[in-house]
Amino acid sequence: MSTGKVYLVGAGPGHPQLLTIKAQELIAAADIVIYDRLVQEDTLAGVRPDAEQIYVGKKPGLHHSLQVEINQILVDAAHRAKVVVRLKGGDPVLFGRGGEEAEHLASAGIAFEVVPGVTAGLSVPMAAGIPVTHRDYSHSVALVTGHRRDDKDTEAPHWEALARMDTLVFFMSVGKLPQIAQSLMAHGRKPDTPVAIIQMGYWPEEQVVVGQLRDIAQRSEEARVKPPATIVVGEVVKMRDKLTTLHRDLRRDDHQQKGFGISGPTLMRRLGAGIRASRDVLAALELDLFEQLDEPTTPEDLASSRSFQVDPLRDLLANLAALGLLLRSSGSYRNAEAATRFLKKRSNEYLGDAVKELIEREEKYAPMEKLLCS
Ligand SMILES: C[S@@+](CC[C@H](N)C(=O)[O-])C[C@H]1O[C@@H](n2cnc3c(N)ncnc32)[C@H](O)[C@@H]1O
Repeated sequence: MSTGKVYLVGAGPGHPQLLTIKAQELIAAADIVIYDRLVQEDTLAGVRPDAEQIYVGKKPGLHHSLQVEINQILVDAAHRAKVVVRLKGGDPVLFGRGGEEAEHLASAGIAFEVVPGVTAGLSVPMAAGIPVTHRDYSHSVALVTGHRRDDKDTEAPHWEALARMDTLVFFMSVGKLPQIAQSLMAHGRKPDTPVAIIQMGYWPEEQVVVGQLRDIAQRSEEARVKPPATIVVGEVVKMRDKLTTLHRDLRRDDHQQKGFGISGPTLMRRLGAGIRASRDVLAALELDLFEQLDEPTTPEDLASSRSFQVDPLRDLLANLAALGLLLRSSGSYRNAEAATRFLKKRSNEYLGDAVKELIEREEKYAPMEKLLCS
């Protein structure tokens, strides 16, 4: 029977001050933190230095599902630690697979709790001065995802019903903007309906593009909007003219970046982690570790098959897992997608030589010597 509890925690849309108090407390208490791509690094600054951090994020487009592996990582973590925090961007159950993970934990008999978060769907529009409801403009709002499970892609969204909602908020839809605009117009929405697309709300890269259904796809392309972005359709977008506040407290802009935007100790930890990461990857390449880890293998088995010392090997494998290059499950490690594609010699996309060359070049880099030689 497991002793640990898994908390499925919402990390909010990106600003560290939009974490709930409960989320902050859990991040500080966690033995293991398992986090996604849309979790700000500053949010992780509160993690205990001795806590294990496991990155399970994926880039858009590389989404053949790792959910089965993530479910297994959660169960495994609950067997190894008391407080396991699964951090997810926004709210954990809104298009965040939190419901699926809770279902899996429940069926595995693991104690869990869902800690709600501030969803991007409601907060990101407001970063651009757009309240999703307003008594003059909108009495209904629908939250819609542009991404469906691969095996359910044939089901069309309910355009007729969606077109009748006052406000529509689309998640994961940047690449589908032309079809969304066309479908809404084809189902009765006027071409001059206001639309806003907000890229990376509450992140330093925040950008807002405003238009109408007829031209928003082109405007978004011209502005090179990239995911993650939230799209708002409806008359409420007009409120932006009155409500946009440039001097928001909850903003992370260039001005803040000049002061690093992070605390001194966090910056030092990041620099140290960068130096350590390059050495760990170089060691793994030199030792051909990625060639050995197609199948789950324990540090003990790998150490004995290669005559390595087991303790340093265990540390090295844990560091490579923290970089997202290895997956850890039930005490075993195996290659994550990046390691298999880019760091295995047999792969068509092998980048190991380039990595070695870069690191070796940097090791010969000696600014002190150059500066001081007469
Ligand atoms: C997998 S969904 C997760 C949604 C999350 N659970 C929530 O409640 O906000 C990811 C999508 O949320 C939206 N999103 C999340 N954070 C965002 C942000 N800071 N700015 C704009 N959109 C964001 C984007 O549409 C992105 O593609």
